[in-house]
Amino acid sequence: MERRLKFENIEIQDVVITMEDARRMERIATGIPGYDELLGDGFFEGSVNVVIGGSGTGKTAFGGEFIYNGALAGKKGMIVLTSEEANCVQREWYTSFGWDFWELEKEGKVVFVDVADPDLRLQKTIERTPDELIKNFKKLLETKIKDVNPDLIFIDSLEAVFLVIESKYRLKSMVDDVFNVLRRASATCLVATGTIYGVDEIIAYSADSITNIGMVRVGNNLQRSVHVVKHRGSAIVNQVRVLQLADDGISILSQSPYLEF
Ligand SMILES: Nc1ncnc2c1ncn2[C@@H]1O[C@H](COP(=O)(O)OP(=O)(O)O)[C@@H](O)[C@H]1O
Ligand SMILES: [Mg+2]
Repeated sequence: MERRLKFENIEIQDVVITMEDARRMERIATGIPGYDELLGDGFFEGSVNVVIGGSGTGKTAFGGEFIYNGALAGKKGMIVLTSEEANCVQREWYTSFGWDFWELEKEGKVVFVDVADPDLRLQKTIERTPDELIKNFKKLLETKIKDVNPDLIFIDSLEAVFLVIESKYRLKSMVDDVFNVLRRASATCLVATGTIYGVDEIIAYSADSITNIGMVRVGNNLQRSVHVVKHRGSAIVNQVRVLQLADDGISILSQSPYLEF
């Protein structure tokens, strides 16, 4: 009897692992023209992906387009803003690219969680210890994921949350904790990370994919560049390409910013 039970346990475990593997094999379109090709055919469903770049490189626009085009394709989006109010970002996206997030929010296709959220504001209170701050942020994520049940999540941005952690070792383990919360969700996540506090490399270390965006000077012109550094479980295109921002949003062109054209 005992043996049979043991056998059943193993059998049950095997099934769970197989199902999880099957889910992780599914790819989803990122909604950013040219990006799926760079990643070797889109994100893996349920993965946690990081986009890294300095200020003004286009991280917020990048994540906005991921959620906006996802919503148009019928996927429910959740946007977590750690240092800006939803209305400011919504206004910016509207004047920049004509994306009407107010309408998507009204229709329940996209949910915003921003600094005005009482839970997120709490985690900014300075009397709290770093451990409490991150614990609160994790709790907020867990609660919102459960309430909203999104298909896609965009967090803009993560470096501010981890600014309070001084030890690199602790920072790494706390980033892992937050990423595990995201991995337990069935959603596919994109996390923007700025380079200003030097925590981007540690955040990137735990990610399923890393995309770098930046500005390069070509003669007298500035061009935005984009390249994928890693994508766990996938071949990638090992090329630097042009990231174009225009009135209709973001797209990745097939050419390199370093070539004359
Ligand atoms: N319609 C547009 N065409 C070209 N560039 C634009 C347009 N709208 C906004 N931008 C530029 O896109 C950038 C947006 O960057 P943003 O996503 O906020 O960067 P980050 O989040 O990395 O700081 C701004 O520098 C802005 O000037
Ligand atoms: Mg930004």
